[in-house]
Amino acid sequence: MNTRITEEYRVLHNVAQILQNPGDLIKILQKTMKALTEFEGLQVENKAGIFLTDNKEKVLRLLTTYGDFSREFIEKEQMVPFGDCLCGRVAVSGELLMSESCYSDSRHDRLYSDMTPHGHYIVPLISFEKLVGVLFLYTNTHPSWYQHSQEVLLSIGGLIANTIERKQIDEELDAHRNRLEEIVSSRTQDLVQSKEQYRRLNNEIQTVREEEKSRLSREVHDQLGQALTALKMDTIHVDKKLSANQIDLKNQVKSMTRTIDETIKSVQHIATELRPPVLDAFGLCEAISWQAKEYENRHGIKFNLNCLQDHVEIDKNLQTALFRIFQEAVTNILRHANASHVQVRMNHEKNTLIFAIGDNGIGITEKDIENPESLGLIGIKERVYPWGGQVNFESSSGKGTLLIISIPLMKQ
Ligand SMILES: Nc1ncnc2c1ncn2[C@@H]1O[C@H](COP(=O)(O)OP(=O)(O)O)[C@@H](O)[C@H]1O
Ligand SMILES: [Mg+2]
Repeated sequence: MNTRITEEYRVLHNVAQILQNPGDLIKILQKTMKALTEFEGLQVENKAGIFLTDNKEKVLRLLTTYGDFSREFIEKEQMVPFGDCLCGRVAVSGELLMSESCYSDSRHDRLYSDMTPHGHYIVPLISFEKLVGVLFLYTNTHPSWYQHSQEVLLSIGGLIANTIERKQIDEELDAHRNRLEEIVSSRTQDLVQSKEQYRRLNNEIQTVREEEKSRLSREVHDQLGQALTALKMDTIHVDKKLSANQIDLKNQVKSMTRTIDETIKSVQHIATELRPPVLDAFGLCEAISWQAKEYENRHGIKFNLNCLQDHVEIDKNLQTALFRIFQEAVTNILRHANASHVQVRMNHEKNTLIFAIGDNGIGITEKDIENPESLGLIGIKERVYPWGGQVNFESSSGKGTLLIISIPLMKQ
């Protein structure tokens, strides 16, 4: 008797350990059934199987078998209605069922052509009072039943049921997780796509704006300029026609001429602001130098320029982009840096154009650089993006800010 109890505990322990294993449910269940068939005291044969309950359809569905079953058996047993044969009965009662022989037990409804005499243990698989399935074990006919073994089998049934439930939950979780990952990845793709679209659109808008500014600048300069010049000639003509004693009229004409002169200056200024002609006529470095002088005159800030000592071919549109970046960077320095000096350096190292603008002001913070609301800085990055370039900031509090733009130059 004692050795029997020892063996029961050994099997129980063995099954519990197998069921703890991670991995494929079917493999684990097969191993469990194998361990049970090695449980000598039960007098089981090398055959077992597990059904799962389908409560909606009120049937048991065959999940897996262990041992040698005929194709006929496997096909017929795919589905067993609740209440049918031995297993279907356990699905209804939820209680352990033992059957001494398939031929003499009237509850054994099903017959197979290759059926040999055998007995059964049908074990309900119950997890938290819910029947999740049924385990059947083939035994010798008329085995000796022991009360204690039956309790152990019921415990094992509970362990198997827990494992099945746990695995089912895991599978559901996995499915959810996969679905989530799919959603995230598809959203990410959408985002990447719309970001790319936005960038192309932005680039297009910048190009159109530059073209528009050029056109406006030319029109203002040429048309308005010419009209004003003509007007000025007329006033000079009128002045000449007036006799010396028409003092009031002469004064009025003089005042008109002065106003026209001021207007011509203002028109030139507007045209230049829209797009400095020096940029198109003499290129980037000249334009930067001209713009720097303007800033010096207007704001008193000092510039130290060092721009492209040796000749580099730079695309016209890139020149425009870099010029606008220069304007934005210096505007930021004037507005935020509280600096007295600006250092500008443009040179090329290997095949990279380096454009650096530094100030001796209060320094920029990491927060400002990363801030999605720093639209000026974002504008700089976006102007650089189509050229495959990079924007970096070096700064420490009180030691100023250095903006470094690097752009790969195409090999010609
Ligand atoms: N040269 C600089 N020195 C110190 N702070 C700067 C400098 N350039 C930019 N900043 C900081 O970065 C912020 C973002 O700049 P920007 O995107 O151009 O926006 P805005 O100029 O409209 O404030 C500024 O508000 C300022 O706080
Ligand atoms: Mg700004």
